Amino acid sequence: MGFYPEEIIREVRDKADIVEIVSDYVSLKKRGENYVGLCPFHSEKTPSFTISPKKQLFYCFGCGVGGNVFTFLMKKENWTFPEALRWLAERVGVRLPEEETLGKVSEAFKLRREIFEINKMASEYYHYTLLKAPEAERARRYLASRGILAETAEKFNLGYALPDWDGLIKFMRSKGIGEDALLKAGLVIPKSSGRGFYDRFRDRIIFPIKDVTGSVVGFGGRTLGKGEPKYLNSPETPVFNKREHLYGLPMINREESRIILVEGYMDCISLHQHGFTQAVASLGTSLTEQQAKALKRYTDEVFIAYDSDTAGQAATLRGIGILVKEGLRVKVITLPEGKDPDEFIKARGKEAFEELVTSAQNFIDYRLNLAKNGLDLKSQDGKLKFVKRAVLILAEIEDSVERELYVQKISGELNIPRKTLYEDIDKVRSKSIMPNIGSKYKNSQLRDNNKELTKIKIMSGFYEVERNLLKMMIEDDGVREKVMEKLPAYNFIDARHRKIAAAVFEMVQKNDPVTPKDLAVKLRDDPDAAAELANILMAKEKPDGVMIDDLINRVKENYLKLAIKKIRSEIHRAEKIGEIKKALKLLSTYHRLKHEIEQLKSDLTRKGGI
Ligand code: CTP
Ligand code: MN
Repeated sequence: MGFYPEEIIREVRDKADIVEIVSDYVSLKKRGENYVGLCPFHSEKTPSFTISPKKQLFYCFGCGVGGNVFTFLMKKENWTFPEALRWLAERVGVRLPEEETLGKVSEAFKLRREIFEINKMASEYYHYTLLKAPEAERARRYLASRGILAETAEKFNLGYALPDWDGLIKFMRSKGIGEDALLKAGLVIPKSSGRGFYDRFRDRIIFPIKDVTGSVVGFGGRTLGKGEPKYLNSPETPVFNKREHLYGLPMINREESRIILVEGYMDCISLHQHGFTQAVASLGTSLTEQQAKALKRYTDEVFIAYDSDTAGQAATLRGIGILVKEGLRVKVITLPEGKDPDEFIKARGKEAFEELVTSAQNFIDYRLNLAKNGLDLKSQDGKLKFVKRAVLILAEIEDSVERELYVQKISGELNIPRKTLYEDIDKVRSKSIMPNIGSKYKNSQLRDNNKELTKIKIMSGFYEVERNLLKMMIEDDGVREKVMEKLPAYNFIDARHRKIAAAVFEMVQKNDPVTPKDLAVKLRDDPDAAAELANILMAKEKPDGVMIDDLINRVKENYLKLAIKKIRSEIHRAEKIGEIKKALKLLSTYHRLKHEIEQLKSDLTRKGGI
């Protein structure tokens, strides 16, 4: 929602002092030019959270979070940029333009606001009906039969939609809201006969679905008895996308560091009622990347508690892949076959579920166990097949110590020398790591913990070189144009560096002043890039005595090396599947890149650079 004018954003930013805002959250001490304190984003005993009042940036040298005052509020309060902006504007006394005067973009914004308003009224109507309507007696009995307490129904704002065809329509009409508006909110369905509408939800228990700010985005509805479909959900609307939201996320206990991920509304509610106030449910689809990203804003560790049947196992494996990719730690809770978390906890109680949580398996163990399925490990053949599968799993473990532990375990279990396992693992890894260097850096947390990547970093050195060049570009007005002439932004291998370089270039082109503050605002949609920027600018090391030409050439050289590596493997692949034309085309690019890098190298040697 980039609809606030840049000047206003700048005015707010200039009036807000990051030290003052952050000191609401963190107790700060002055140290030299900077302020330091205990990081509010990870737990620590010695302060590594640093603020530079001069640059108006913060950076935590412990966990790698960083950015400007907006980033801080977005992270700390889980706000979007416009939310952080509105709050800050009020605090520093800048009047934002009325949403209505902001023109076209705000049409969409107005529609969303209208739908939120309708959803809120509808959820109150359904809730009131459940509690008070005489016709809702069956619904109340149904919930009681499922063990839902009144306070739980209250906490989740559960409701009931009457069996009538127009219960909601009539209620809304009495409030002056027409059927067209209800249609946009997905609450009514056009009659197939032509004119008119009827209520989407009839004779169903209603589960309002909220976003992280607590606004109702949509609804789920469950039949009271057998009826089909068992669950009915809101359709996609301008505020609801079931791939984005997670049921229960706004209700979780923020103090709890882990999250329990379940499949159903009832599982989520039931766990909360039994004290597991960190349960959330995906909405009847398999977990999506967007949902994993949402989870990452609240936790570092997710416990998956899906059904243990084959479908549940498949969903668990998919979920693991998606969560791990976002840099989350993952464990798997194994339920007895045929029971979902709701049924389990009702039958066996809170302590029994707590035990399941305590004995949850690390996702690697879980995958290794599944890999044994259908194999007889006593037979030669079974052993061989298992090792093949296990090697693929172990090759994915980035931390070498962790990998070693698993290698030890499997080597012991199957009586195979560790060396043999390592040879196979290394084969798999050497195939997959190099062409991916850029993307492997996507996750800043992984980057810091990851020994393997550190090794690559030292090997090619691209990371430091890019950082040094960016630092000089930002701090030294004289070098920017020179860099721009020689280096397109895509030559930076690290995705975050690419973003930063592109932002700098754009500012130069527009003749805008390039300051850390302005840059951080430009990077507001990319917290990873903003954190990296803060890190680069606040890191102690100075690129002393390096020549700018040398840095430029090195960045370019690294890029060319990587591009050549990638194109080489693409050529191999094309050859393998017989796409000769494509291979030839790639080959000419390959030669061009080769030529470029040769020239660069002769340049470097002439200057004594390499
Ligand atoms: N679901 C859905 N549409 C359906 C069936 C299921 O959207 N027709 C989603 C719902 O979010 C539901 C989840 O999938 O909560 C899991 O479905 P299921 O296991 O069938 O139901 P439970 O959650 O166990 O519900 P209950 O205990 O009420 O039977
Ligand atoms: Mn169930």
